[in-house]
Amino acid sequence: MKLLSPSLLSADFGNLQRDIEMLNSSCCDWLHVDVMDGLFVPNISFGQPVVKYIKKCAKKPLDVHLMIEKPERYIDSFCQVGADILSVHYEACTHLDRTLHAIRDAGMKCAVALNPHTPVALLEDSLHICDMVLLMSVNPGFGGQKFIENTYAKVERLRAMCDKLNPQCLIEIDGGVNTSNAPKLFECGADVLVAGNAVFASADPMQTIKELKS
Ligand code: DX5
Ligand code: ZN
Repeated sequence: MKLLSPSLLSADFGNLQRDIEMLNSSCCDWLHVDVMDGLFVPNISFGQPVVKYIKKCAKKPLDVHLMIEKPERYIDSFCQVGADILSVHYEACTHLDRTLHAIRDAGMKCAVALNPHTPVALLEDSLHICDMVLLMSVNPGFGGQKFIENTYAKVERLRAMCDKLNPQCLIEIDGGVNTSNAPKLFECGADVLVAGNAVFASADPMQTIKELKS
């Protein structure tokens, strides 16, 4: 699969409705929504009221990436404001199995996100429950960072694990994705690419979205 999920972290918050409408009329597949708590990552972004507003404007599924400690506390509230896919970090969950089941029971797709230092092998006993795995290709917390090259090998290792343990599971790549590295990421086995800066700093975001997907 070749899906694109532009990250609203790089949108113009003063013109959020305009930027979401642009994404609605583009060929992107999902809207990536980055929630940060200032603890799990150094930065604070936005919470449920903003996600609720994004849902009101969006005509595509919301791919919500929780970069927060103990995300199990907020599963129901993000479901209520319209998350369709909910990603929690492996590094932030003490009872990951329970958390993934709770996301599914709430009616959302569940995903585990891995920081760049976390090996994919640690997912051996959770992959069967995952609808998606999100591999961070930068250290989470900020948009516009440089892509970590080790990600290609990691995608290939994860693809091989998915083929064996859960062929339906999608692989999403998040951080520093641009038109130069996107083709190789799809080639290595990625299904979904997140792109913030590459889309919103581009002179023609709709065209860049098209290029990233092709
Ligand atoms: C980073 C976020 C990303 C970020 C990607 O912590 O999880 O989703 O918005 O932005 P770019 O594509 O600019 O690296
Ligand atoms: Zn993200």
